[in-house]
This record gives sequence, C-alpha cells and structure tokens, in this order.
Amino acid sequence: MKDLTPRREDLEPIEIASRDEIAALQLERMKWSLRHAYDNVPFYRKSFDDAGVHPDDLKTLSDLAKFPFTLKQDLRDNYPFGMFAVPREQINRLHASSGTTGQPTVVGYTKRDIDTWATVVARSLRASGTRPGDVVHVSYGYGLFTGGLGAHYGAEKLGCTVVPVSGGMTERQVKLIEDFGASTIMVTPSYMLSILDEYNRQGRDPRKSSLNVGVFGAEPWTNSMREEIEQAFDMHAVDIYGLSEVMGPGVANECVETKDGLHIWEDHFYPEIINPDTGEVVEDGELGELVFTSLTKEGFPIIRYRTRDLTRLLPGTARSMRRMEKITGRTDDMIILRGVNIFPTQIEEQLMTVTALSPHFQIELLREGRMDQMIIHVEAAEGASDPDAACAELQKKIKRNVGVSTRVTLAEIGGVARSQGKAVRTIDNRPKG
Ligand code: DLL
Repeated sequence: MKDLTPRREDLEPIEIASRDEIAALQLERMKWSLRHAYDNVPFYRKSFDDAGVHPDDLKTLSDLAKFPFTLKQDLRDNYPFGMFAVPREQINRLHASSGTTGQPTVVGYTKRDIDTWATVVARSLRASGTRPGDVVHVSYGYGLFTGGLGAHYGAEKLGCTVVPVSGGMTERQVKLIEDFGASTIMVTPSYMLSILDEYNRQGRDPRKSSLNVGVFGAEPWTNSMREEIEQAFDMHAVDIYGLSEVMGPGVANECVETKDGLHIWEDHFYPEIINPDTGEVVEDGELGELVFTSLTKEGFPIIRYRTRDLTRLLPGTARSMRRMEKITGRTDDMIILRGVNIFPTQIEEQLMTVTALSPHFQIELLREGRMDQMIIHVEAAEGASDPDAACAELQKKIKRNVGVSTRVTLAEIGGVARSQGKAVRTIDNRPKG
C-alpha cells in the first residue's frame, strides 16, 4: 500500500492547533450556537425555558451539560421545517431520512452550511489520503440521503475529479472504476464487499485495481473487516462517520497514517459521551452514547443531539482534535438474546476470522417454543473445501467469545441478501408484543 500521509503544510491550521486554541474557538462558537437556536427556534426556546437554562448560563464548555437533550422524536414532532433557524427562503438544500418507521426527519442547510459541510468532507478526504486531482468514485446513494451529495461536494471542494455513480448496478461500478482510473472510492463497507464479488466474477484482480483508498462509513464495521478489504484490494480502508441531523458524512474521519479511530472535526461539532440510562456526561475514555452540538450551523442548529451511537472519546494523535473509537453499534441495534447483549459487529468480528466463509452475513432472530434463537446466515468463501466445518467453527467461536449459543447456517453463494447501501444486519422474526 502506498504511503499517502498528507503533508503537514496542506492541513488547515486548526487541525494541528493547540488544545487551548481549539477550546477557545469552541467556547466562542458554542455561545453563538446556543443563542442562535434559542432566539430563532421556538422548540429550543421552550426546551431551554422548561429546563430553567438560558444561553447566557454557558460560561465554560462543561456548562453545556446543563442544557436539555434533543431527540429524534423532537425532530419528528417539528416536521417538516419547525427546527429551522432561518426563514425557509434562506434554506439552500433539504435532506431527509427515509422515514420507513414513521415521520421522516428533515434537515436544512443554508449556503454557508453547504460550504462548511464541503470543507469538512474535503478535510476528511485529505485525512484519508486523497489529493487534489484524484479521481473519486462516489457510490453512496444520491438523493435525500446525505451520503452521495455530501461526499460529492467535499470531493469537488478538494479539487478532485468526481464520478457521481450512486449505488447499484454493480457491474457498471467496476467498469467505471477501472475505465476512469478511480484512486478513491466512497461507499458503505458492505457494498464494497459486493463490488469485490463483482471483480472476482469478472475475473479481474482487485489487487491490480487503480484504487488506493476507500472511505467507508454510514454503517458500523470492524477492524477485521478493514483488514479483509485492505488485503483484497491492496488499498487503505479508512472510516468516515456522520449523521444527517448533525450534517451528513464528514463529522469525523480517520487519518490514513494512523487508522486509530476517527478524529471529530471539533471546530464544528462538539461531542459529549453520556451514560445512556442516566444522561450524565462521562469522562473521556469511557464508553457511552455520543451526543453532538453543532457550533456553526445556521439553517438547522442542533443542541445536544442524542445519536444513539455507542463509542468513547480518545485524545488526538495524528491531529489535535479528539478521536472517537470505531462505533460498536447503535443502542437500537443491540440484540438482547436470553439476557446477553450483542451487537452485529461482534458477530462480524468472529466471522472474519473464519477464512472458509465469505464476509457476507445476516442475523435472523426467531422464537422457538419460549426460547429466542439467533441464526447466522453465512456463505462459503470462493473455493472453500469444507464450509460445514467452517460453520461449526464459527458457532464455537461465537459461543466462546461473544457468549451466546447460535445456529450458523450455510446459504448458497449469493443467498445472503446483498447491500447496495447500508446493510440490514438483523431480521427480527420473533412475534411482536
Ligand atoms: O449515514 C451519513 C453518512 C454517509 C456517513 C456516508 C458516512 C458516510 P444517516 O443516514 O443519518 O447519515 O445515518 C447516521 O449511521 O448515527 C450511525 O448509526 C451510522 N453511521 C454513520 N457513519 C458510521 C460509521 C449517514 N462510520 C447513522 N460507523 C449514524 C458506524 C455509522 N456507524
């Protein structure tokens, strides 16, 4: 793999500023953001008033803990434009969640917000090892999902040649990567696995592809999956994180030279980790739920938004800004099986150690009698000689390392649902209620 460490002189000064400088900027911006939300969004005025706090009460960064949380439900309740802090005419772009489970959540960006977003995505790409002039293949979905357009504007801002492919039509994805000589691909890690299958199907050697960097996110993935993809393509695989409520992709990103967790672009997004049960802020280093406050957003300021993502905050390394550990999972993706808490990433981790199985998997939950059962659907790897033995091995490893008894069943090749965006890892077929 090539050394793609960016030159220090190409970084923005704030990326390598002192902690004191970063904190001073954050405090000034946080005061502005609280005031902006309070003055312009009736929801925030009421929620601050109800909690007996006022933007003037913020004297230090830790005073933020006095302010109330914002939940996804608050966004739904204010559908569609109730959370906007500027007149609708000043909103330059809308994005929205799919809304498959109820009212979609809508977010809005001013012209300046779009520019800030492009800046943090450009910064993320640079951290990933992408350079001006590179061909960037974007397979994140374009549309109301923030992945495609967020990646697109950032890559343009960095000065790249952007190929806006969006998701799907996997055969064509491979053709365009090869014909246009893409050196960076932006895609979900699960869809990258489908692209890998397609390389093999076409008899092309993925290690000879033009790709040097994959910027993978929008869903949880493990370091074991990183190794799998890096080996398969002889490329760097780095993690990008974000969510539409806070901005979209580019809230945090790994650095290609360290790959040790994602630097949060703290000059725009202020992180806290809380105990999800009590709401108390916990110390850096402790695992808990990630909460974000936007520091510069005009159209849709967001104060103490509970992401439901579980991680911990770590000190800066390659950059001064703090890192978040790779996300373990979302509180709502946690499976409770006979009293044991399990995240799909734990299953992924074990699966990746069994070379005779392919990295595709899906978890099915069933009720048999009065017992909940977990079935892991997997497929044999290309050319595996004894996949049944590999299933038994995986079953044993899950029992030993995750602590639950599961049934691992072998699907035929192509039998496990393929993702073209975010993978659906768990199908819950237990009776409701
Ligand atoms: O998934 C934005 C995005 C697009 C990020 C492309 C990265 C790349 P939403 O659809 O609003 O936005 O979903 C946000 O996805 O709260 C996490 O649960 C999950 N997620 C996003 N990035 C990661 C990641 C986009 N790198 C939700 N690791 C978040 C783990 C991630 N989970």
